[in-house]
Amino acid sequence: PATSLQDIIAHAKEYGFVFPSSEIYDGLQAVYDYGQNGVELKNNLKSVWWKAMTQLHDNVVGIDASIFMHPLTWKASGHVDSFNDPMIDNRDSKKRYRADQLIELKAEAYETGGDEERGKALREELARLLGNEDLDGVRNLIIAEGIKDPISGTDNWTEVRQFNLMFSTQVGSLAEDASLIYLRPETAQGIFVNFLNVQKTGRMKIPFGIAQIGKAFRNEIVARQFTFRMREFEQMEMQFFVRPGTEMEWYERWRDARLNFHKALGLPAEKLKFHIHEKLAHYANAAVDIEYQFPFGFREMEGIHSRTDFDLKSHQELSRKKQQYFDNDVDPATGKPFGNYIPYVVETSVGADRLFLAVFCNAFTKETVGEGDDQKERTYLKLHPALAPIKVAVFPLVRKDGLPEKAQEIVKSLRSEFRVVYEERDAIGKRYTRQDLIGTPFCVAVDYQSLEDNTVTIRYRDTTEQIRVPISELKARIGQDVSI
Ligand code: GAP
Repeated sequence: PATSLQDIIAHAKEYGFVFPSSEIYDGLQAVYDYGQNGVELKNNLKSVWWKAMTQLHDNVVGIDASIFMHPLTWKASGHVDSFNDPMIDNRDSKKRYRADQLIELKAEAYETGGDEERGKALREELARLLGNEDLDGVRNLIIAEGIKDPISGTDNWTEVRQFNLMFSTQVGSLAEDASLIYLRPETAQGIFVNFLNVQKTGRMKIPFGIAQIGKAFRNEIVARQFTFRMREFEQMEMQFFVRPGTEMEWYERWRDARLNFHKALGLPAEKLKFHIHEKLAHYANAAVDIEYQFPFGFREMEGIHSRTDFDLKSHQELSRKKQQYFDNDVDPATGKPFGNYIPYVVETSVGADRLFLAVFCNAFTKETVGEGDDQKERTYLKLHPALAPIKVAVFPLVRKDGLPEKAQEIVKSLRSEFRVVYEERDAIGKRYTRQDLIGTPFCVAVDYQSLEDNTVTIRYRDTTEQIRVPISELKARIGQDVSI
């Protein structure tokens, strides 16, 4: 049977990958904590991304901007005025819902009930109403479809209103002189406002990029699907600054580079697809999502957007600081330098938590092994070794006769290079199983022969095959598999 999201959530919790936030108080909706194995996997994803973006390109550098930014930033970016979701309240349950998602759920229900046509028609009608900003129409559709509040079971709805998704707080010690600031809803703006700082101090020549990993916050109202839609999450974004007119070429290059990145992590080609946006945001002249097939269907994991000069131009207007670049390359058409312009931007933006979820879902493997009466189910995480939280587990066969000491020596010789654990409790089969469940690609076993000839067995997670190798070769053998 196909893996369900429930299987994924249960495994992530049971093996220390993801816990509900503040669980002893029954959790906080749409907020999660990464556990001892989850943090390793997530850090590995972040460092692989960072390396792919910065180290492997001459012309991309990184920054780490603050979460708090001047409030005008969000006016310039358009978030104050248009980062809204249509919401509807139920008068009986006093619960608030995203109106579009209530309709979306209904469309999904039609489709799972076999009525594809009706589901599709409903989605189209919703898209038309939202496109016309017809909020009364959205409410009428909810009523016409007989959609009820899942809590109170009634349809006693208020009107549909737009709610801003940004979280805000006060800065300043006294209430009187405090001012309202926002928690950033995307990391991108920290890059835009630092564009000239980086360009000048790094003597960067266009085309060049700035990459950043950091937290972002959105007051998502309907939070479902585990870490797919969170209120506090992490983005890995890169803004690539180009000469106007060359943006489509860069957009295509980055779109392909980003797809290849996901494949290199081990996500299979058939579970990835592009979803080209036909209806574009006002600032974009091209946009595509890379979708991954999660257990709940194909959904957005990363966005690649050609954002024109919208953001820099808008920051220039509000800050009254020029956001121009002087391009002294010669324009073949005029024989003169291209001169001053506001660069165009191609953005790549992936959620670290969504990528984590995709990689985790893809790695989760259940297999039937053995024949006849010996048949049993085996569960393991088929993670790329570069991403696995622990690379090597070292086991003495028994807890005596110098085997533990020999195993500890091996641990010491490997641990400056790889994350290694030592395990001596329980039968060796159980120890292999425990490592399979968290995705450890290599287990090294020390037995009596090891004391005589300095060889050990390496057991490979995916095949469970074991081979005997000299201890002196361990580092090289493991090392060749743990990079991407
Ligand atoms: N700067 C462009 C931007 O923020 P976006 O499509 O709103 O674009 C980019 O977000 C990516 O951030 C998404 O593709 C997704 O991976 C991630 N993301 C957005 N909202 C999220 C949420 N509530 N929880 C987890 N990840 C989210």
